[in-house]
Amino acid sequence: MSLQEHVTAVFTEKYGTTPSLVVQAPGRVNLIGEHTDYNDGFVLPMAIDRGIWLALRPRDDDQVSVHSLDFGVTAVFHLNDLQHTKSGWGEYIKGVAWALQEAGYTLHGWEGVMAGNVPKGAGLSSSAALELATARAFQQVSRFAWDAAQMAKLSQKAENKWVGVNCGIMDQMISAAGEADHALLIDCRSLETQLVPLPPALDGSGTAVVILDTTTRRGLVDSAYNERRQQCEAAAAHFGVPALRDVSISEFLAEADNLDPVTRRRAKHVITENLRTLNAAKAMQNADADLLGQLMNESHISMRDDFEITNNELNIMVAVAQTQRGCFGARMTGGGFGGCAVALVHEGVVDGFVTAVAQQYQQQTGLSPKIYVCQPSAGAAVVAHN
Ligand code: GLA
Repeated sequence: MSLQEHVTAVFTEKYGTTPSLVVQAPGRVNLIGEHTDYNDGFVLPMAIDRGIWLALRPRDDDQVSVHSLDFGVTAVFHLNDLQHTKSGWGEYIKGVAWALQEAGYTLHGWEGVMAGNVPKGAGLSSSAALELATARAFQQVSRFAWDAAQMAKLSQKAENKWVGVNCGIMDQMISAAGEADHALLIDCRSLETQLVPLPPALDGSGTAVVILDTTTRRGLVDSAYNERRQQCEAAAAHFGVPALRDVSISEFLAEADNLDPVTRRRAKHVITENLRTLNAAKAMQNADADLLGQLMNESHISMRDDFEITNNELNIMVAVAQTQRGCFGARMTGGGFGGCAVALVHEGVVDGFVTAVAQQYQQQTGLSPKIYVCQPSAGAAVVAHN
């Protein structure tokens, strides 16, 4: 049974009637453009075929009630009386309600059942999926127009201000605006987007995006993430610009000796990563899988040596992936310090790739990886209407 069927069946049993609608929002994997979003730069993620499904019906009052099949718990709150309770998935839903109301939307209550299959804590944005599924639910029952960029911004606000996680805009934006069969180049300053297709291999076969979960988890991630943000802000201040997006490579090189070594490395990563991301989008448009793969490899080196956000397992995973036949390129993906790598692989050899990488990674680390071959998928949408 698919998750859509599952939430529909549980809803029907619980409420004695079919849900009025089912909404879905995806997790994501970032192909390239890491730690560039909060520098007003460029990112190139794709929504994946894993996400959160939510079967629901409107209520006549201001109550929101959501039962999570994954946690076996129901979250209940009132739109006219939003209060923080202990942390947990319910706070993301409440946070989106708060951000929407702060922005002036008049919201209606609803009740529903949800379930998801984005691995949690792996860096595949299960929280953005939850936020955008919630935004879709409110948009439907409250009958306002869907504006993907606006919903992404308000979901990010929910996460920043209500939940208290200092993330950028990438995860929410791709979960809101992704399209099937495409990755999305996002300008994180203007929020303009451009769809780009996955490039075919030279022999005309397709390429596959493979997510390689090291199963290591980021420890003190918030402090390390926030530290990187501060270092980037300090670098931008040194150049006298609003964000590192505004510093060209030649401006950086002319000034590099006057930066302290850490700030220099951080700035170098962001400035070169923005260029790599724009070049990667062009490579995809030119159907150049080799160039895209090469840029992914370079991105990994930059994150390893200059931004310093990889760990040993990520470096091993990426090295193992890169040496396989049919692998165009690989890099760590997401916030870093653990979590997943992503590889671009010739479609014809994916099965062998998965087996070999799993075996060699396990041999070198003693850990069994989790591997997901993913399809580029659509952003938050209504997937059933009754
Ligand atoms: C996390 C954040 C994103 C982005 C990435 C790094 O996923 O949520 O906003 O900063 O890290 O690229």
